[in-house]
Amino acid sequence: MSTSTNTNKLAHFLADDQLTKVQLLALIDLAIKIKKSPQQYNQILAGKSVAMIFEKPSLRTHVSFDMGINKLGGHALYLGQQNGKLGERERVSDYAKNLSCFADLIVARVFSHDAIQDLAEHASVPVVNALCDLFHPCQALADFVTLTEQFGDLSTVKLAYVGDGNNVSNSLMIMAATLGVDFTLVTPQGHEATAAMISKAEQLALKSGSKFTCTTDINVIGNQDVIYTDTWVSMGDEDASKKAAILAKFSPYQVNHELMEKADASIVMHCQPAHLEEEITTALFDSAMSVVFQQAENRMWAQNAVLVSLFS
Ligand code: NVA
Repeated sequence: MSTSTNTNKLAHFLADDQLTKVQLLALIDLAIKIKKSPQQYNQILAGKSVAMIFEKPSLRTHVSFDMGINKLGGHALYLGQQNGKLGERERVSDYAKNLSCFADLIVARVFSHDAIQDLAEHASVPVVNALCDLFHPCQALADFVTLTEQFGDLSTVKLAYVGDGNNVSNSLMIMAATLGVDFTLVTPQGHEATAAMISKAEQLALKSGSKFTCTTDINVIGNQDVIYTDTWVSMGDEDASKKAAILAKFSPYQVNHELMEKADASIVMHCQPAHLEEEITTALFDSAMSVVFQQAENRMWAQNAVLVSLFS
């Protein structure tokens, strides 16, 4: 949503801190309904077109949106960087206004959160954030669909994220705090979430009555149900000269069988792409504890719930 309201009506889907618990639970519920009976929703986007802007590479997001939109009876158009970088060839505001002439909705994966806000401000159609530097709300929503399928009742779940404090961990911690899920963020020093993001999560956790813990000490991970990790170097931050230092700094934070045992956790999650033997071991990624492909599939159902809500 572009503006925070307490109603169920979505205007945009931009950032996790703009979504209420009621809205999130409704989206999770809808995603599960669509997953169970996709044929009931196969004309919701009939005659509608979605423009999908990608400033960064994508496998799951691109494919799940394209095929998900198809399953809802709509048409998706992929716009890569062939028209130049967003905001360089023409203003982002003009890009938004032009796309609004043809498209009924815009999905955008961008470098900066400002760009997604700019798009939403100037588009006359809904905008969906398909990842930016600050948030990955589609991923987090899909992950809470997966956790609902796994546990039923989210209020008893203990979720820990171990790794780089980034877009994925921001979305997870804000959504967890909103939904009342206990959340522990474990990052190396210098890779924590920002103070503003932590303060938001703390306030939301206080309101929902959940626990929010933030630490750089992997030894205080405590008992968890689920451990989640993401790449140690996000898209756009790659710098070969820093790779060795990153590997050395992050290696104590690798998610492996030993950590799962220590935390007594039964499920491991990863948004993918995974850098095997870096943030997660191959053995754990491929193990029965891993729900990574359930997460991937749920991207489509969660996003379809967002699209159905935005069009209703
Ligand atoms: N943090 C990662 C997420 C990829 C889905 C990145 O931004 O590259």
